[in-house]
Amino acid sequence: MKILGTGSALPEKVVCNDDLTLFLDTSDEWISTRTGIRERRVLSEETLLDLANRAAENALENAKVAAEDLDMILVTTAKGEAVTPATACMVQGAIGAHCPAFDLNAACAGFLYALDTADAFIASKKAKTILIVSAEALSRFCDWKDRSTCVLFGDGAGAVVVGEGDGLIGTKLFAQSNEPILYAYGDPGNSPYEREKHPLTPLHMAGQEVYKFAVSHSSRDLLELIERAGKTPDEIDHYLLHQANLRIVEAVRHRLHQPEAKFPHNIERTGNTSSASVPILLDELNRAGKLKTGDLIAMSAFGAGLSTGAALLRWTL
Ligand code: UT7
Repeated sequence: MKILGTGSALPEKVVCNDDLTLFLDTSDEWISTRTGIRERRVLSEETLLDLANRAAENALENAKVAAEDLDMILVTTAKGEAVTPATACMVQGAIGAHCPAFDLNAACAGFLYALDTADAFIASKKAKTILIVSAEALSRFCDWKDRSTCVLFGDGAGAVVVGEGDGLIGTKLFAQSNEPILYAYGDPGNSPYEREKHPLTPLHMAGQEVYKFAVSHSSRDLLELIERAGKTPDEIDHYLLHQANLRIVEAVRHRLHQPEAKFPHNIERTGNTSSASVPILLDELNRAGKLKTGDLIAMSAFGAGLSTGAALLRWTL
């Protein structure tokens, strides 16, 4: 499998740290020094589906692939536009595709899970060309009165079109059940039969627990993938990490003894956009001409589950 093109879309509305101090006991100083975040984009006039569609269309255009030539659409999202139908089916209709479409939820690691899933469909010859869209609107299920979570997240969508080729070198998926440290529960409904129901609960995170998990598992996944490919960390040109906290990116970078330039970041502008963060970053680098044919790219993401995903690929565009 190889990547044929990338796309992304962010909401128009910019919310900077100082905007949050109008209704939260927080400061630009705390948010920027603890996380690296200076501003984030949040949905206001547009919908999550608008972002997903725009990212999809950008990726198709970049890949020079027509929507009717897609064999499958995968959307990764922690919470799609509706309970049902799948957001992937809505994207299919909007872009004029006719292929099977489904959503996949692996929280912030979703894009890496989708890459691996797409690779499996392509390797088994069940599909040739697949669109992956990672579209997230965490602003919809954060508690905007909880300064420990809502300041961290932003909305956005990133997309790639993948096809047959020899770009993908390896992947690693991992999950370790640990619900209490990162969760959000949706509307429990009003069934008179179900005895125990979780009440509607906005996003809850035990930040330090997740932080430790992220640093140790992201470093472990990357080193394992690189070693499996017979490479060393020095031979990797770009490390694209989930943009959850700049301190996590820096901690992993130090563990791998790599220079800053190899760990690009956009968290200062986007906040944490969950599964969309890696493909948005990839699209920004692609469009800025920062990826050269033959470059080795390592990606890693982590989040609720807990789950992690990593991939090593050669840039073929
Ligand atoms: O994408 C999913 C994966 N998520 C992550 O990877 C997130 C991982 N965790 C983190 O990035 C960090 O743990 C956080 C950014 C969430 C928190 O940073 P921290 O350095 O671990 O801070 P903390 O939770 O230990 O809180 C330190 C203090 C507390 O006050 P006390 O108890 O020391 O008096 C908090 O109440 O900072 C306080 N605090 C804030 N103060 C101002 C928490 N949030 C804020 C805030 N503004 N927004």
